[in-house]
Amino acid sequence: MTPTENIPVIIILFGGSGDLAHRKLYPALFNLYQQNVIHDRFAVIGTARRPWSHDYLREQIKESIEETHDQVNEDDLKHFLSHFYYQSHDVTHVSHYMALKKMAAHLDETYHADGNRIFYMAMAPRFFGTIATHINDQHLIGSGFNRLVVEKPFGRSLASAQKLNDEIRRSFSEDQVYRIDHYLGKEMVQNILPLRLTNPLIKNVWNHDFVKNIQITLGEQLGVEARGGYYETSGALRDMVQNHVFQIATLLMMPEPEALSATAIHAAKQMLLDHIVLPDPDQMRKHFVRGQYLGNDDTFAYRKEKNVAPDSTTETFAAGEIKFNAGPLAGVPVYFRTGKRMKEKCSRVDIVLKHMTNLYGRAHSNNISIIIDPVSEFYLTINGKKIQESGIRREDLKYRFTTAEMAQVPDGYERLLHDVFVADTTNFTHWSELKRSWQFIDAAEAFWQSDEKTVPMPQYAPFKMGPKEADHIFENPHDHWIYR
Ligand code: BG6
Repeated sequence: MTPTENIPVIIILFGGSGDLAHRKLYPALFNLYQQNVIHDRFAVIGTARRPWSHDYLREQIKESIEETHDQVNEDDLKHFLSHFYYQSHDVTHVSHYMALKKMAAHLDETYHADGNRIFYMAMAPRFFGTIATHINDQHLIGSGFNRLVVEKPFGRSLASAQKLNDEIRRSFSEDQVYRIDHYLGKEMVQNILPLRLTNPLIKNVWNHDFVKNIQITLGEQLGVEARGGYYETSGALRDMVQNHVFQIATLLMMPEPEALSATAIHAAKQMLLDHIVLPDPDQMRKHFVRGQYLGNDDTFAYRKEKNVAPDSTTETFAAGEIKFNAGPLAGVPVYFRTGKRMKEKCSRVDIVLKHMTNLYGRAHSNNISIIIDPVSEFYLTINGKKIQESGIRREDLKYRFTTAEMAQVPDGYERLLHDVFVADTTNFTHWSELKRSWQFIDAAEAFWQSDEKTVPMPQYAPFKMGPKEADHIFENPHDHWIYR
């Protein structure tokens, strides 16, 4: 057996009754169980406040597996479920951590888990620091490997992220911490480096002589749904830009890593992030826009959502510019926009090449587009001759994953959990990367907060492309969003 099979481990899942566990983590664990990554020598302790029993937790997990899988082998499922245990847990109660420690030690013996522990924080972020502190104070650390998986948001400013990191670091070293950014588990995000580095057609134009700008759009049609309370403390900039937009931008803009190892990739990312340009008030005024959704008749008004203040100034849309002074695309603007209640669900990147003026006049730009969601797709926009009349027309050379290929793509969480099991930190956020992105967000937030008193929050109609002001954030007034 290779070391990536039947990994011995006790997983302590904080937030075992939650939505994320139900929708993503249990199905992902089941798939990894079926692939033998974990099999006989693992146990999971789900914890949450609710007074559930082991059996009740197992029923819930059974439902989650049946909801996400077309066909399930009953025996397999039964065996899988028998590895799950529940402990009702108040995160502030010392005695509960003592009970958890005892249960983990007992299961360790039962399942021969070699003292290996994975702690997974999948609950309200305000408890992350408390849990980390108790893991340390009540000595929950096992005698084998210890890994901590932390969901986002990791802080809501540099200062609060730093505080959380200090709390975590009392028990875990940086290489034991797996900060989740689920975008890093997506197929087309993982495809950015191979596309960049293995195609001469792309690699040779991937520099500031050829690339004019890069555009990242992460649009959602849904509103804030049941998450108004959390969203009020966050807003689009913290919720989507600090993490997902930054990780995508970094993969696009970083220098070629010296190797494909986690260390080399993080080093290349860090080198880039050390050369980020923090936005000053002048850039903020010219190149950043925020907004809030509001329908004509209030039906789709953010301020009417559950747990949202009627005078909320939280942005549900943010657009702006990120620039770096290093890397192959040094100085090339990365424009981003992200928002709730936009035209449709669409996550994509458009790389816009500079125009050429030639014998045919000024041709359209070549674009390289990477569609992340809802489909996995890649296309090049090129120029060719019109068929019957003279002149030039645009064509897309498109590669879209087939339905069969899409069915093979593992869910992002399955990929990321697999990486935690095999201790591969490539697709997780390093603390020093996070620090730089928070510096950027803090600078933008500080400007918006001071600006708020004089400039009203732009509003945008739902199911469109966000506030019209976002169409004018470009350095060159002739530039525009490729995706409209
Ligand atoms: C999360 C945000 O990180 O990403 C949510 O907190 C957002 O607000 C979600 O809806 C979008 O993820 P995806 O995978 O649906 O694009």
